[in-house]
Amino acid sequence: MSHTFSARFIVLDGVEGCGKSTQTRLLGEAFAARGCPVVLTQEPGGTSLGAKLRELLLHGEAQMSALTETFLFCADRAEHVQSMIVPALAAGSTVISDRFSASTFAYQVWAGEVPTEVFEALDGTARSGLAQAPGRHGKPLHPDLTIILDVDPETGRARKAAPGEAQEDNFERRSPAYHARVREGFLHYAKSLGTAALVLDAAQRVEALHQEILLATGLSG
Ligand SMILES: Nc1ncnc2c1ncn2[C@@H]1O[C@H](COP(=O)(O)OP(=O)(O)O)[C@@H](O)[C@H]1O
Ligand SMILES: [Mg+2]
Repeated sequence: MSHTFSARFIVLDGVEGCGKSTQTRLLGEAFAARGCPVVLTQEPGGTSLGAKLRELLLHGEAQMSALTETFLFCADRAEHVQSMIVPALAAGSTVISDRFSASTFAYQVWAGEVPTEVFEALDGTARSGLAQAPGRHGKPLHPDLTIILDVDPETGRARKAAPGEAQEDNFERRSPAYHARVREGFLHYAKSLGTAALVLDAAQRVEALHQEILLATGLSG
């Protein structure tokens, strides 16, 4: 079953309002239109446990440290990888996740000042289940491609402030300085991944960005 080994794990990540949800949907539609099985998911919250963790992290009233956030995001990721992402890849579906490890690095490490070694230990453990996906032997246990949608956080924030958008969550209401650090963190993380990551200009129009994503994922033409 050759298709099993061509199923890919793709991540779209970046600051609030960069267009992750929009582009995840469009990319999913592009795979489906080509007859490629695809599963769309998100972090936090890709599993039923994850949905509870998402509510706690994004809308919970309890204050928590960046270290506690790291544990909870990585708990969500461990469950997501084992019970959702790996089974979908094993069934031959490409998986597209709206956020993954890049977000934990950007928010909790770069902006939140959690030590890199703590992130590497927790995130690395959370991702380790990827070893169970078919065709991963000897490959790094990262997504096949992480696309960072890069935009000025103020632009992203303004998009989200438009009428009809949901109320701000616990991260969205943090300071412009925090969000500027988050953006830097994404760029730094992308560099650390080398060819497994790509940074695209998310200030451009939805359709133009979609075309760049199709090119990056080999779907254009
Ligand atoms: N490239 C773009 N240019 C202008 N507006 C956009 C663009 N991409 C998304 N939007 C709009 O901005 C808002 C936030 O987009 P969304 O995809 O939800 O971002 P994210 O999931 O990264 O927070 C939505 O109203 C969406 O329609
Ligand atoms: Mg979104």
